[in-house]
Amino acid sequence: MTAFSLPALTLATSCPRDADVVIFGVAESAGTPVPVGVPDTIERRTAKLYGRPLLALARELGVEAKPGSTAALAGPDGVRLVAVGLGETDVTPEQIRRAAGNGVRTAAGLAGGRGLRIALCLDAVEPEVVRGVAEGALLGAYRFIKLSGKDAEDPIASLTVVSSSAKPEARRAVEAAKTVAAAVCLARDWVNTPANRLFPETFAEAAKNAAKGTRIDVEILDEKALERGGYGGLSAVGGGSSRGPRLVRFDYAPRGAKAHLALVGKGITFDTGGLNLKTADGMYTMKSDMAGAAAVLAATRAIAQLGLKVRVTTYAAMAENMPSGTAYRPSDVLTMYGGTTVENVNSDAEGRLVMADALARAGEDSPDLIIDVATLTGACMVALGERVAGLMASNDEAADYVLDAAESAGEAFWQLPIPEGTRKKLESKVADLRSGGNRYGGALSAAAFLQHFVADIPWAHLDIAGPAFNDDAPYDYVPAGGTGVAVRTLVALAQSLQS
Ligand code: BES
Ligand code: MN
Ligand code: ZN
Repeated sequence: MTAFSLPALTLATSCPRDADVVIFGVAESAGTPVPVGVPDTIERRTAKLYGRPLLALARELGVEAKPGSTAALAGPDGVRLVAVGLGETDVTPEQIRRAAGNGVRTAAGLAGGRGLRIALCLDAVEPEVVRGVAEGALLGAYRFIKLSGKDAEDPIASLTVVSSSAKPEARRAVEAAKTVAAAVCLARDWVNTPANRLFPETFAEAAKNAAKGTRIDVEILDEKALERGGYGGLSAVGGGSSRGPRLVRFDYAPRGAKAHLALVGKGITFDTGGLNLKTADGMYTMKSDMAGAAAVLAATRAIAQLGLKVRVTTYAAMAENMPSGTAYRPSDVLTMYGGTTVENVNSDAEGRLVMADALARAGEDSPDLIIDVATLTGACMVALGERVAGLMASNDEAADYVLDAAESAGEAFWQLPIPEGTRKKLESKVADLRSGGNRYGGALSAAAFLQHFVADIPWAHLDIAGPAFNDDAPYDYVPAGGTGVAVRTLVALAQSLQS
């Protein structure tokens, strides 16, 4: 089912002679843009070809150091040159990632681009920078292969990261980048696969396949097991579909684990809104409502492949939210895993119901920290837009773990509060809890609802409704469609927990 193919990526100390495209950087020095990382031979031959130095040429072309700017020009002997802005001041690993992504996307889009050998000459020396170039290049090279199977030839044959450092740290950085990029692209592929192909049963099967060859133990509960086990949220939400729900559990338990992390993801393979049917516009992108589950599963795979010394137990709560004669109704009272009763106020608030079951189950493993990831509320998008994810946590320490990891991974999260008294909005006359509050602060009341099911374990909730799916044009290393957001932050978080 997975359709992406990542090009081969290697590390080299000099620019390969047979490169078709050479990507170089443009930084700002004393107020003017200057090329950086350009191989000497390319520089010399380009100057000869045009009768003036590359620096002058770049200025004539209006090449800028501004992040996001790119320019292409014909180089010597048919080589094509792509300039990418690196930023005006200190270049961070994230700026490098974005520049590499922009460069590779520009290169892939060049006329006649087929089977290109692309070299990235961005003056990468430090391991974090080498890793940034490799990650940005691979993430920028991603494309979802058409399901007709009649796709044009891959525009990219190979990527070479040029670095003057041949240290083992640089090699390790490249290997880590490959593992993480493959996980991000796996999550993207799952999100991009339409719901007639990826539904709970096939998604669970794909998750199991993704764990093959790793030290992850996989357990899958099907609709019968969920019913028997008392998973009232998953059973109710999944009950409207002819394709029953699943709960996938990954357990990665390495010897000498320093901490125990639990991950929980929302896996609604399609969200019609159920009996509270969405509008046509609101429904169209809802194949992406399983992006949280995709992120936690893919991140767990990367964590296991990297051999991190952290135990990770991961739960992906999968269901299809459909209206039908067997659909759950507004005002139904559900008994969730663990016994809490919930009055359903709106069948389109389905995510928190499947998450509640999975969070309650995750707590039984007694982890040190629970992180959940969900495309949970439109309200979070209203608050933070499409590119920033919301973060809500039981305490600031848990929030800071995520914020620090996100910073190093280059993903954007913004903390929102769960104000004192938000729980009050969720009081029900007929059950322990109502599933929704009023129309204000929807992201916060959803978080308050989830918090009920984690009891007193440190917990952080990531609402990725905005950044999970890019409905616009590609930018930086982010393609249109599924983005794989949160995978990199989760891997970085596990990395930070082992030290
Ligand atoms: N999956 C949606 C949230 C969403 C909306 C994600 C748009 C990405 C883009 C979620 O299940 C939902 O429908 N939430 C409702 C909750 C409401 C009924 C309390 C919402 O946000 O409107
Ligand atoms: Mn919904
Ligand atoms: Zn949903």
